[in-house]
Amino acid sequence: MDKVNKALDVVIVGGGMITNDLILPSVYHLQRLGVVGQITICALNSAPLKALAENQEIRAAFPGQGFTAKPALTEPAERAYPDLYREVIAAARPRQAVIVAVPDQFHYPVVMEALRHDQHVLCVKPLVLRYAQTVEVEKLALERGLFVGVEYHKRFDRRALMAKRQYALGHFGEFTMGEAKLIEPYYYRHSNFQNWFTCDQTDPFVYIGCHYVDLVYFITGLNPAAVSVSGVKGHFPNGKEGYLWSNARVRYENGALLSVTDGLGYPDEAAGSNDQGLLMYCEGPNRSGMIKHDDQDRGVHHCYLENIGCGGKRFNYVSPDFYRLVAWEQPGFKPVGYGYDSVAASIESMARIERETAALAAPAALEKRRELIRGIDATGIIATPANSFINELVVEAARLSITADGEWVNILYGANPHVEKRN
Ligand SMILES: NC(=O)c1ccc[n+]([C@@H]2O[C@H](COP(=O)([O-])OP(=O)(O)OC[C@H]3O[C@@H](n4cnc5c(N)ncnc54)[C@H](O)[C@@H]3O)[C@@H](O)[C@H]2O)c1
Repeated sequence: MDKVNKALDVVIVGGGMITNDLILPSVYHLQRLGVVGQITICALNSAPLKALAENQEIRAAFPGQGFTAKPALTEPAERAYPDLYREVIAAARPRQAVIVAVPDQFHYPVVMEALRHDQHVLCVKPLVLRYAQTVEVEKLALERGLFVGVEYHKRFDRRALMAKRQYALGHFGEFTMGEAKLIEPYYYRHSNFQNWFTCDQTDPFVYIGCHYVDLVYFITGLNPAAVSVSGVKGHFPNGKEGYLWSNARVRYENGALLSVTDGLGYPDEAAGSNDQGLLMYCEGPNRSGMIKHDDQDRGVHHCYLENIGCGGKRFNYVSPDFYRLVAWEQPGFKPVGYGYDSVAASIESMARIERETAALAAPAALEKRRELIRGIDATGIIATPANSFINELVVEAARLSITADGEWVNILYGANPHVEKRN
């Protein structure tokens, strides 16, 4: 097999913010490392694809690289192609990669379509919005020996990886009380969010709180046992109503509590690109332990001559940890950070699965792919349906709770995990 055939072709469905800010640059870098072959991006219409193709920062970082746009860039910006992704996925060679980067409520149909067409999948978080759907995804993927990764990139932050190892070694004691927050900038309200971030679809806890819920689970292994989420509603500039703020309490199986505050309201003029962090108090024998992550101000401050910082600011806290384009030893720039590490870990896992089974006959290859996928599930670093389904249970419970003004919703495990209101 030549290099091109060994490399995985990638179809990205969705050409919005996360594709621009993380996924496309990561996939371009993997392409020049030989892991990725052809790249196709399918969006609802041509407008975001044109913006991606013309993004000067991306062009300068990845000279000579490009993608196939579906619909073509020459199509009128206002013409929508809601089902084109099906054709694009159907046209892909079997067992390549589909990256799902559409709004939360469309993850499920796109992920299932990709699996039905024998594609490995990387889905931005949250995988799906209902537990039953995760089970379906997991089952179909395992039947066909396909990898499904969920892009919970905070797991790849070095501080989280450190905390996970040391928590397991007993260095902190047992998690008992904590608080997390992630407040995205106010200007998000002016973006495409206003079209889909409505009260009936999602809320700040489901959208971003899930990162810290997943992280506390990643570090401690504790199952969330109940959730209560209260929201504050407001209007987007286009008049649609959304939950603009939320506060959640998550109760864990050992009785621990985590408070999670989220919103679309970090001041545009303030120095961070958002406000975020995690504080966990733990109990040990006759003393307590603590894990404290300031995920907003990571100690690097820039003041630019022009308004080129996040949200058009001159003075910024700059995180070198999530995603940055930096100089490297070859032409252009390379993406570094836990965002890149997370995308690379899933795509490289798919490539490894294909590499290690390429020489086997079909039934043996299928069995081996399943074995490799079970190994990734058990290692528990990359989020997969099998090792991160607590997130779907939490999301499901959260939606029940926030629409009932903060009523507690229990999460029940066992043979048939499900959620139910307390009263
Ligand atoms: N930190 C994170 O992990 C993080 C950050 C941002 C977004 N996300 C997730 O990424 C997803 C997308 O968010 P975003 O901010 O990029 O949204 P966005 O609104 O900027 O972009 C959504 C994209 O989906 C495309 N789309 C919608 N319907 C489609 C269809 N039928 N076929 C093809 N494309 C379609 C649109 O054309 C658009 O390009 C969401 O699930 C969000 O939760 C994750």
